[in-house]
Formats: sequence, C-alpha cells, structure tokens
Amino acid sequence: MSEKKKLFIKTWGCQMNVYDSERMAESLGHEGYESTEKVEDADMILLNTCHIREKAAEKIYSELGRFKGLKAENPDLKIGVAGCVAQAEGEEIIRRQPMVDLVVGPQTYHRLPKMMETVKQGKRALDTDFPEEDKFEHLKLRPKAKRAPAAFLTVQEGCDKFCAFCVVPYTRGAEVSRPVERIIREANELVERGVREITLLGQNVNAYHGQGPKGTMGLAGLIAELDKVDGLERIRYTTSHPNDMEDALIEAHGTCAKLMPYLHLPVQSGSDKILKRMNRNHTAESYLRVIERFREARPDILLSGDFIVGFPEETDQDFEDTMALVREVHYGQAYSFCYSSRPGTPAAERALVDPQVAKERLHRLQELLWEQQRQTQTDMIGRTVSVMFEKPGRIEGQMIGKSGYLHAVHAAAEGVQVGDIRDVKIIATESNSLTGEILP
Ligand code: SAH
Ligand code: SF4
Ligand code: F3S
Repeated sequence: MSEKKKLFIKTWGCQMNVYDSERMAESLGHEGYESTEKVEDADMILLNTCHIREKAAEKIYSELGRFKGLKAENPDLKIGVAGCVAQAEGEEIIRRQPMVDLVVGPQTYHRLPKMMETVKQGKRALDTDFPEEDKFEHLKLRPKAKRAPAAFLTVQEGCDKFCAFCVVPYTRGAEVSRPVERIIREANELVERGVREITLLGQNVNAYHGQGPKGTMGLAGLIAELDKVDGLERIRYTTSHPNDMEDALIEAHGTCAKLMPYLHLPVQSGSDKILKRMNRNHTAESYLRVIERFREARPDILLSGDFIVGFPEETDQDFEDTMALVREVHYGQAYSFCYSSRPGTPAAERALVDPQVAKERLHRLQELLWEQQRQTQTDMIGRTVSVMFEKPGRIEGQMIGKSGYLHAVHAAAEGVQVGDIRDVKIIATESNSLTGEILP
C-alpha cells in the first residue's frame, strides 16, 4: 500500500478562512493527502490567504520565496495559493510565481479534485471563477469527524455592504445564506461526532435569511431551530453588523439558554462624519442604542468590537468621539487597526492621515481597550461561570476551556474529559486568561 502524501496548510485571516481550510484539507484527503504540521515534510503546501490589510500579497510572495529550497529538494512538491489574495490576484500570482502549481478562490475550492488532476499532469491550475449556477457549491462540502468539542459552521457568506475601506465584498462576493435544513443536518452530524458548541459563521452573519420549512428565516429563527438540537449545548455567532440586528435576535439573548452571552459587534469609529465617509450607514448613537437593547435583554453580555483609526479625514475630534464611544460601551475585548488603503476600494483614492498621528491614536485607543479588557477580567474574580473544557493545559492535571463569555479559563481538572461543561469559580486573572476552581 502506498504511503499517504503530506499536506501542510497555513491559514491567515478570519474564521471563515479557518473553516475553509478544514474543508480543503478534507477534500484533499480524498486525493490521498493527510495533514502535517511540518512544512519540511510536505508534498503539498497550501497557503490560505487574507487580503484585508496592506501588503497582504507581498507577504505571500515572500512566504512563497521561502519554499524555493524545499521545491529544489523535492521537485514533486506542489504549492497552492487559496483564499482572498488568490481571488483578488490569481492571475498575477500565476504570472509572477512560476513555482505555484495551483490557485483556488474561496468560492471554488469544491473543484479542488478536478484541479488536482491538472496538477498531477504537471500542469498549473487556476480557478477563481464562480459562474452563477455553480456558486456556493463549496458550502455543500460536509465537515468530517474532528475530536474538538467546539466547531464552526458557515451559515452565510459574502457581503453587500461595501464599507469604503473593505475588500470583502470583492473577494467573497454577494451575500448568500445556506438553507436552514442543511445547517440543521450539519449541526446534528457535528453533535453526533462529539461537538457541543457551534459558532455560526458569516461575514455578516446576522444578515442571514435562509430558506426554511415555512419561507425564509432570520438568524434568530435559525438559532431557535438549533436550540432544539439535542446534545448541542452552546451556540455563538460572528460577525454581526449593527444594521442587521433584528429584535428577535436581541430577545433570544434573554430567552435562549444555549445562546452564549457574548457579542462581537464592530463599529469602526465613534464619529458620525467618519462613519458616513466609511459608508457604514449607521451613527454612533444608533450603535449605542443597539448595545443598550442587548444589555436590557442580557445584562451580563460581554461586548467585543472592531475599530479603524486614521481613516482618511479623521481629525483629532473624530478620534476623541471614538474614545468617547469606547468609554460609553465598555468592551470586554476588541480588535483595533490603523487604516490601510486597499486598492480597488472607494477609500483608496483618498488622502491618508499622517501615519505617525494614526499610530499614536491607535496606541491610545488600545491602552483604553486593554484597560477595559483587564477590568472585565478582574470583575470575573469570585464569580461562578460555566466552562466547556477543550484541551489539556500546560501543567499536569490542568485543563483549558472557554467560559460563556469566551474567556480562556484554566483549572485543575482531575477526571474532567474534553467536552465536559462544568461550573467554575474564577479565582485569578492573567493577561489573556482566567484561573478557576471547578465546583464539586
Ligand atoms: N464583516 C465584518 C468583518 C470585516 S473584516 C464586519 O463588518 O465587521 C474585519 C475587520 O478588519 C473590520 O471590522 C475592520 O475593522 C478591519 N478592516 C477591514 N478593512 C480594513 C482596512 N482597509 N484597514 C484597516 N482595517 C480594516
Ligand atoms: Fe467589510 Fe463592511 Fe462588509 Fe464588514 S460589512 S465585510 S467591513 S464591507
Ligand atoms: Fe481576510 Fe478574506 Fe476573511 S480578506 S478577513 S480572509 S474574508
């Protein structure tokens, strides 16, 4: 029997890319590849790329450069580029990098087996084109057995929002939702394989409107259906947009026990002028009102967000408006970035803020966000939270899991199995995790 070939995948970007990498690994599994963590052992290297920030393509080219030696040693080594850089610059990659054998987009990876046939014949394959009738076929690839108790499930893809800074609508295409029945079936399959927590994924997950038994359903309807899946204990979703918040979803946070008390709701800026320039179609005030309603439904909900500083025309006052919004919300966790211009987006044409000024603003914002995160963690001390344990910790007998608020929690866990959900009393906080004691 011939030995299996080794596949090394490196993934950048959002959780949707993580999900796609898993599906691609499974698909290539049927082609005789098994995953390896060691790039030196690989018979095939696949880079699943992200295009969201500046220099993404350059980074991929320099990454590819590092494989030159490996390719020289092993001329049969296959190299592929997938994801959003592949989608945006596929032809350029093929032209500039002769050692790349395969370029596949985020909507076309279901055609990998066919592409591999081409590659096996010593030819190069480029496939980033998704004709209407074939669109979203990739989402029919079903997840295989995995030992982890927490899994992602893509329910929605693409974006119709066209924020002035963002490449996603161009690389991931228009919004589309998977049918309810298929999602429920997949959730059941995951649960049969030991999954107890599912994170519903989408670039605009709360814009979900999938075909259900009685017409289309929003995200709240889908969550109500998932609530009925026996053995599924925890439901999360990400990433939401403030403009797609339906009342029923907010309410669900107060009524559905399986829905975890955590919300990632990017706002990007606290200045109405900048929000307008960003084409966000909401104001700081309307965002704050949405947050207020979530807190009414679920007072302990932990809030997370995304911020961009130094967007074109951002003044000191605009930035102070962002700081004021952050103070008002009080985030438990957040991501913040300096604006970077992305070719092809409307904002790419506009004059940049002085990079030094942008950097200083980012620094101040991150100090504030960090302080809020620390405070949120400190406030957990003395509280009892439910933790789902996911893997052994570094210390013998210890395990690490996630609380409902998505905090990493470690505890001495004699006799606890991966996937067990236990009440844990928090006793200390470290920089990015909490320490707890499992209650009897
Ligand atoms: N669909 C999600 C996530 C988009 S990408 C949403 O709308 O929230 C994740 C984050 O990357 C964005 O929220 C934004 O904060 C950041 N981002 C996107 N494009 C950017 C750019 N050109 N420069 C800096 N940050 C950017
Ligand atoms: Fe990008 Fe805006 Fe769409 Fe989010 S909502 S993916 S930031 S265009
Ligand atoms: Fe990046 Fe594409 Fe996700 S650009 S953030 S990998 S949708």
